[in-house]
Amino acid sequence: MIEELYTPQQMDLGRRARELAETVMRPVAAKYDAEQTYPWEVQRAIQEAGLSGVWIPEEYGGLGGGVLDLCIVVEEFSRACGGMGVGFAVNALGSFPILIGGTEEQKERWLPPIAAGDKLIAFGLSEKEAGSDAASMKTRAVRDGDVFVLNGEKKWNTNGAVASFNTVFAVTQPDRGARGISGLVVEEGMPGYRVGKHEDKLGIRCVPVVEIHFEDCRVPAENLLGGVEGRGFKHAMITLDRARPGVAAQAVGLAQGALDLAMEYTHGRQQFGQSVSSFQGVQWMFADMATQIEAARQLVHTAARTIDAGAKNITKVSAMCKLMATDVAMKVTTDCVQLFGGYGYCKDYPIEKFMRDAKITQIYEGTNQIQRLVIARNLLREAASTGS
Ligand code: CAA
Repeated sequence: MIEELYTPQQMDLGRRARELAETVMRPVAAKYDAEQTYPWEVQRAIQEAGLSGVWIPEEYGGLGGGVLDLCIVVEEFSRACGGMGVGFAVNALGSFPILIGGTEEQKERWLPPIAAGDKLIAFGLSEKEAGSDAASMKTRAVRDGDVFVLNGEKKWNTNGAVASFNTVFAVTQPDRGARGISGLVVEEGMPGYRVGKHEDKLGIRCVPVVEIHFEDCRVPAENLLGGVEGRGFKHAMITLDRARPGVAAQAVGLAQGALDLAMEYTHGRQQFGQSVSSFQGVQWMFADMATQIEAARQLVHTAARTIDAGAKNITKVSAMCKLMATDVAMKVTTDCVQLFGGYGYCKDYPIEKFMRDAKITQIYEGTNQIQRLVIARNLLREAASTGS
């Protein structure tokens, strides 16, 4: 981080996050990747370090930081472990709908335990048949007096097996399309709420990604976000606009972490009587990778600053940073595996995990094909409005 570009608080956050990543996350990253279990010890360390609620306003017990602060922390965590980076960031994804659309009472109820790190929160939008086309979801919530009866299932629920709260989107008014979708906070232990299949994943293996089933799950009507039906899809889209820079920051962290390892390895590795890093072809790879990473980082931070400044249209720049940073991460981590040669292909070395972890960043929170669609739609809208 270039010191002159950030506040002293942001520099401090970055330092604290890096220290935690290096001392707590990196030493156990391979273990949890192999076991595919949730790293509760890491979650407790984040909590003890006071970093759980970076993006949550101070009045709800958080640090009062913005999306930029969140991105700084997520990058540092992901530099050591991409799974731990997203395991943390997904709490922002799950809580943004409350911040965006919740009533004051709902914010006071759910945000403080998340900010304190006592509770985790997930985000339930996707379904088996409603991935990119999120508005075609089938999960149904029917009002019955002072409860909503929820039936259906959610797919790709990151942290769903460990989260106490789950921000779930469901159809309440089937004849209204996207305007008939509402957000509900469903709490662990509510009868009819069941965690189903755990995905066996290529990467980010320390975070549980699960199916969630609702079988006549009775959710109190007071858990309807904002207390009004039909606003859920908009809230979900605004949430994704705010959360995609977090995925992009995860990607930047993965790319930077992989480059760090590749530089260290090639410096120590001797071939043809000299260190591999002394070859000009390898040095040019380093220069290209570092340039791409810095360009991605700056676009992520520009998107985050745009959001934090309260800009009206954040959709395009948010999608752009997610698209660019995650494509950079995939290329850089793949090239770094190449620099390790045959050893890079084996689990004895940490580099292959970076490539596996990077792949999902091009897919979740909207595939990069969806990001291109979002960017193009906004470009065309802007062109139409300026008449160019
Ligand atoms: N901000 C505010 N409102 C928005 C919006 C935005 N960014 N995007 C759309 N809307 C509003 C529109 O204005 C419209 O509202 P009106 O009806 O009032 O006019 C409404 O939403 C519907 O908009 P569209 O007709 O544009 O919607 P669409 O059906 O064509 O879909 C889409 C748009 C961009 C493709 C959207 O479906 C999308 O983002 N898909 C990807 C979903 C996604 O990212 N899923 C990942 C889930 S999270 C995850 O990966 C798992 C995890 O746990 C990490």
